[in-house]
Amino acid sequence: MPMRKITRRGLIRASFSTSTVLLGGCAVRMMPAMSPGSMQDGSTVGHLDQAHPGRGPSSSFVPDVDIALRATQAEVPLISGKPTLVWRYEGQLLKGESNAVTMLDDTSVGPIIRVRTGQKVRVRFTNSLPEPDALSVIHWHGLHLPEDMDGHPRSAIAPGSTYVYEFEVRDRAGTYWFHPHPHGDTARQVMRGLAGLFIVSDDEERALGLPAGEFDVPLVVQDRTFDSANQLLYLGMGMMSGPMNQMMGFLGDRITVNGKPKSAMVFANRPYRLRVLNGSNSRIFKLAWSDATPLTVIATDGGLLEKPLQRSYVMLAPGERIELFADFTNRNIGDALQLVSLAFEGTENVPVPAAMMSRMNGMSQMDMRGDALPIGSAFDILNATFSPTKSSSAPYQLPPALGVLPRPTPSAATNAAQPRRFEIDHRSMTWRFNGKQWEGDVSAANEQVKINTSEVWEFINNLNLGEAMDPMGMAHPIHIHGLHFQILERALLIPELQLAYNTVRDGFVDSGLKDTFLLMPGERVRVLLSFKDFTGKFVYHCHNLEHEDQGLMRNYQVT
Ligand code: C2O
Ligand code: CU
Ligand code: CU
Repeated sequence: MPMRKITRRGLIRASFSTSTVLLGGCAVRMMPAMSPGSMQDGSTVGHLDQAHPGRGPSSSFVPDVDIALRATQAEVPLISGKPTLVWRYEGQLLKGESNAVTMLDDTSVGPIIRVRTGQKVRVRFTNSLPEPDALSVIHWHGLHLPEDMDGHPRSAIAPGSTYVYEFEVRDRAGTYWFHPHPHGDTARQVMRGLAGLFIVSDDEERALGLPAGEFDVPLVVQDRTFDSANQLLYLGMGMMSGPMNQMMGFLGDRITVNGKPKSAMVFANRPYRLRVLNGSNSRIFKLAWSDATPLTVIATDGGLLEKPLQRSYVMLAPGERIELFADFTNRNIGDALQLVSLAFEGTENVPVPAAMMSRMNGMSQMDMRGDALPIGSAFDILNATFSPTKSSSAPYQLPPALGVLPRPTPSAATNAAQPRRFEIDHRSMTWRFNGKQWEGDVSAANEQVKINTSEVWEFINNLNLGEAMDPMGMAHPIHIHGLHFQILERALLIPELQLAYNTVRDGFVDSGLKDTFLLMPGERVRVLLSFKDFTGKFVYHCHNLEHEDQGLMRNYQVT
């Protein structure tokens, strides 16, 4: 009998199989339809009895922009050969300037909604998803809105229903986006294609004369897995990769830009504005140009920076946006340049430092996912080529001053000396904030804030030493609804993680306004937030969408 060579990973897999059963059982408990048998697409987690009845238009609201938006199923040619069955938003402009809604051709991503600060926007959202229990709701990621306009999971409507969003755009110019937010099914609905851009402009931005029109290019970067018939696969088929993707976050094996794999674009010899959104469920990017040209960053989640800054790379976690100024004036025909993601470490499967080994249960130091494209691997995102035939304009100098950031000083916070603390951990197959997971509309005593105050919040990403799952912690993209905040400081609390941390640390752009930030294992991040205009419950959560669906989401309440 031939001896089978047992690899380290093989051993670990064998020893992990009991936990897999446990994981399956746990998934059944947390999310009924996510049992191993229905791990593939087709599972739904909606509860029709919990559907919001919907909302009609208000006669007193006079919109500047009025849009009908349907979430529906469509077949689109993403790859040569068979079209791919996707879910997507289809928008139709009922009132407003013609560029207010742009559908992108042949893809799931979109539409792009373009509005100006101060405009009144009505979006008549109809859930036309093909599964009777696929509840959905639209969240306007990054916008400062009243609670009933924000897309809280409680406002999810059943197929056939309509929810009319009506709000005034109060935010600065910037790259915002929208996506589904029904608790327990957000990850799957986004993976199937539901995501669009909400681009706001204002006078401050227009005065800069930044590249506009066709020279202002949105790049929604995601990862997907396609089967041999060009259809989207979710979570993976394997004993390991399915449950692991469910627990840790979905990783696809192909990178898509605006919904399409193998992205190539032809640019003119001139400056561009690139708006990059990480719309992935869990993949983190370390963006750079392939020829080591520094990235020129002009904006973050909450709009323009005070001044442009140069970085050799930028980290972009799910939900985050970054805007780049890219001057291709001196590029030649035949030049090839890639927007890439560089290799990095430390966001999960952190190499265990010897000093910590004794505190582990021995199951940590490997990639338990078995993914084709592991987190932190290097790959190309976009292949750029250059054409002089595209019209070029007069030379443009990026202004040295970009925007005035509306922000309080830390001393304005009511709790500057004692930040409100949020600790993240993972116990008994559950992700938690301060020991608690999602409890629907509940917000606890330590989640109450006062309107017209500013506070410092600190998020601490604890390791889970001794736990079977995720003993070394993993990075969590933390997102807070309803406002933008400033990042005050980052501190790595566990010195043993420094080496891995060094592979990402120069990529955080913390000088702009943010609504989402990456919190590394063992890291503490302090942010300064102001609660204005609207009372009510707003969620904060991990924007790793599988973590969010598993309950790493809570409400804070403004009173
Ligand atoms: Cu983009 Cu609550 O999320
Ligand atoms: Cu959001
Ligand atoms: Cu997370």
